[in-house]
Amino acid sequence: MIKLQRSKFSLPAGITYLNCAYMSPLLKSVEKAGIDGIKGKRNPLQISPEEFFKTGELLRKQFSKLVGCKDPSRIALVPSVSYGLANAVHNIKLSPSEKVIVTGEQFPSNYYPWQRLCLDSGATLDVIAAPPTTINRGKIWNEKILDAIDHNTRVVSLGHVHWADGTLFNLKEIRRRTLEVGALLIIDGTQSVGALPFDIQSIQPDMLVCAGYKWLMGPYSIGLAYYGPYFDNGKPIEENWINRLNSEDFAGLVNYQVAYQPGALRYEVGEHSNFILAPMMLEALKQINDWKPKNIQAYCASISKKPIALLKENGFWIEDEKYRSSHLFGVRLPAGKDLKTIKAKLKKKNISVSYRGNAIRVAPHVYNQEKELMNFARVLIE
Ligand SMILES: Cc1ncc(COP(=O)(O)O)c(C=O)c1O
Repeated sequence: MIKLQRSKFSLPAGITYLNCAYMSPLLKSVEKAGIDGIKGKRNPLQISPEEFFKTGELLRKQFSKLVGCKDPSRIALVPSVSYGLANAVHNIKLSPSEKVIVTGEQFPSNYYPWQRLCLDSGATLDVIAAPPTTINRGKIWNEKILDAIDHNTRVVSLGHVHWADGTLFNLKEIRRRTLEVGALLIIDGTQSVGALPFDIQSIQPDMLVCAGYKWLMGPYSIGLAYYGPYFDNGKPIEENWINRLNSEDFAGLVNYQVAYQPGALRYEVGEHSNFILAPMMLEALKQINDWKPKNIQAYCASISKKPIALLKENGFWIEDEKYRSSHLFGVRLPAGKDLKTIKAKLKKKNISVSYRGNAIRVAPHVYNQEKELMNFARVLIE
């Protein structure tokens, strides 16, 4: 079991940060990598042509390790989820009889690309809303998704957990059903990968994309994506020099190439050898791989068990353990409780959470302790 890791961060004393789903605090090791990256450009002689490729390779390896991908060349460096998905959408042609399935109130970066694709092709965007119940909500929601997947379905795109309240989606079952009907499965892992185990080999998604600044603990504007065999011969949304074959040969760059670098490297963003962000992301992934998502998940479960039980006893609604994550969960208020008052009280006590839809989103990590979550619960109850 992981022990409290707060000393690895520079979080100020006196604040309770239960908001990793908004943005992770910076690890000291990641901060140092960023500062070293800035200093590196004091003297450009320190940045050799090899440096343009080195960190990217290490990043692809670390991310592969994290998500159980056997082939690091299937991993691409992207600046955002929307960028990674734009490459996917660019390579999917739909006919008007086909449909794309997303979950209700999905994060906009994983909604708008499909909306655009459907508007342009006349296909249907099928939004599977959460059921209007607090009894077996997660179970019924999963069943609704499975029921919606039929022979007209070309794509299912969703998270492993819902970004607003941590509802767990049963990706194994969804994959099984998508394979039955020949639909693509695309996962936005931004709110789960890093803190909840995810295995490419067992889920076999066609694509996975993760922003780096939340559960991967990296800086803003860098993320990672996996592209499966469906995308092997696809067209990227931009044509940059470094994604072409032999770009390592700086003297021969104008021996223009038709071929791309192998695997998914054609989908990498221009200037991805970012000498500040890439080393930061690398340090962060090393730390996450060291802790391991299953241990992070177990830690979050252990510190949240008692406070969740207390909240439930007092009429608050939180999804059953089987259908939610422990690193991200939503708390819904009982009748008579006023969200505005609770918000003000939490703010006064320096307790940071997020408010998404009608849920208070709680997102602890290894820098948190049970007593912080107990304090949070007491503020809600009092
Ligand atoms: C589920 C999910 N996906 C993606 C993002 C970020 O998207 P982008 O990288 O396109 O800004 C967020 C940010 O909150 C998110 O919660």
